[in-house]
Amino acid sequence: MNRNKQGKRLVVAATGASGARLAVRFLTHLLERSDLSELHFVASDGFKLVALKEEGADFKALCKSLPDHPGLRIYDERALDACVSSGSYPVDGTVIIPASLATVGAIASGAGRNLCHRVAEVALKEGRPLLVVPRETPLSLIHLQNLTRLREAGAVIAPFIPAFYQKPATVEDLMDHFFMRLFDHMGLPSTLSARWS
Ligand SMILES: Cc1cc2nc3c(=O)[nH]c(=O)nc-3n(C[C@H](O)[C@H](O)[C@H](O)COP(=O)(O)O)c2cc1C
Repeated sequence: MNRNKQGKRLVVAATGASGARLAVRFLTHLLERSDLSELHFVASDGFKLVALKEEGADFKALCKSLPDHPGLRIYDERALDACVSSGSYPVDGTVIIPASLATVGAIASGAGRNLCHRVAEVALKEGRPLLVVPRETPLSLIHLQNLTRLREAGAVIAPFIPAFYQKPATVEDLMDHFFMRLFDHMGLPSTLSARWS
């Protein structure tokens, strides 16, 4: 999954499922890594609304809270002319976190309409790693079928289902253990949490 020796070029799309803080903390961890060269962050309107409702932070404030990184680029969902909208712009991996089931449905049906859908579509068509972090409960048959369809097309489906064997003390501990598993799938070495041994 390493495109070049300069570091990883990654795409993270955040959509309007509950758990806006998952996206913020995940982005923060990525931006603090020394092996990151570019991070393209796409936020849907749904994500901005949920972030406001859950965290009380408007999108500008949320972006300001992220660590500075020369390779960070931020787009809204309408930026369909972004470089990451094209398969000709090579990236090492794409993560949709959190993924609303509306976004999952759009990707699974091939009827994507915004840049969050498009970056996932590009990952699948180019055969590049795609991680999808859906959040909804319970899941309808339509949700399950759409997720199955994405898995069959090559995506890794990784819902945020906390583990407890590492004895988490905080919500952040729960998230970091989950992120460590995502990093494993992205080929990013990490010691964010204890591993079962
Ligand atoms: C506070 C809040 C929480 C939501 N939580 C979820 C959720 O956990 N999962 C989900 O699929 N949709 C959830 N939704 C609904 C989505 O935001 C909605 O379907 C939206 O159209 C998704 O658009 P997007 O995928 O383009 O971001 C939530 C909406 C709000 C306002």
